[in-house]
Amino acid sequence: MRTTQTPATDQLADVFARHGRERSDLIPILQEAQDKLGYLSKETMRAIARQLRVPASSVLGVATFYAQFYLQPRGRHRVVVCRGTACHVRGSREIREGVEQKLGIREGETTEDLLFSYETVACLGNCALAPLLVIDDRYHGRMTRERAATILDEYLQGEAQARGTD
Ligand code: FES
Repeated sequence: MRTTQTPATDQLADVFARHGRERSDLIPILQEAQDKLGYLSKETMRAIARQLRVPASSVLGVATFYAQFYLQPRGRHRVVVCRGTACHVRGSREIREGVEQKLGIREGETTEDLLFSYETVACLGNCALAPLLVIDDRYHGRMTRERAATILDEYLQGEAQARGTD
């Protein structure tokens, strides 16, 4: 007998149990699935589509429409550089270039070792601290390219120590 039960369905059983099967349940389910699994894989979206009895393309369409959803695995640390006006005037472009060089990725990407994801935002709402770098919700104000590299090195050292390789 064929079954539609998949690892993703099992992992999301508690999420599904908290919601109904209406289209209005889609976004809350996507949010909870992402909180639980870190990102929305194709398999996860297929499982959600089956649960709500909607085409997988509908789920994909919603997930790609909203910036809050991630369709690729994300790094353990979220690195955000502000590109808003105040930060731009005070040199955020230099910081963005430095972060990209240091991590070897571009905006929107994640390092291969899944340690860092990097993105930019239009304004972090704390312009007095411009230019601003945020890592894992920790604000680092009046940033320079050199200080950003030093801070990222500290994270790398911390990760190496946590793995016992330093
Ligand atoms: S412009 Fe960077 S915090 Fe506002």
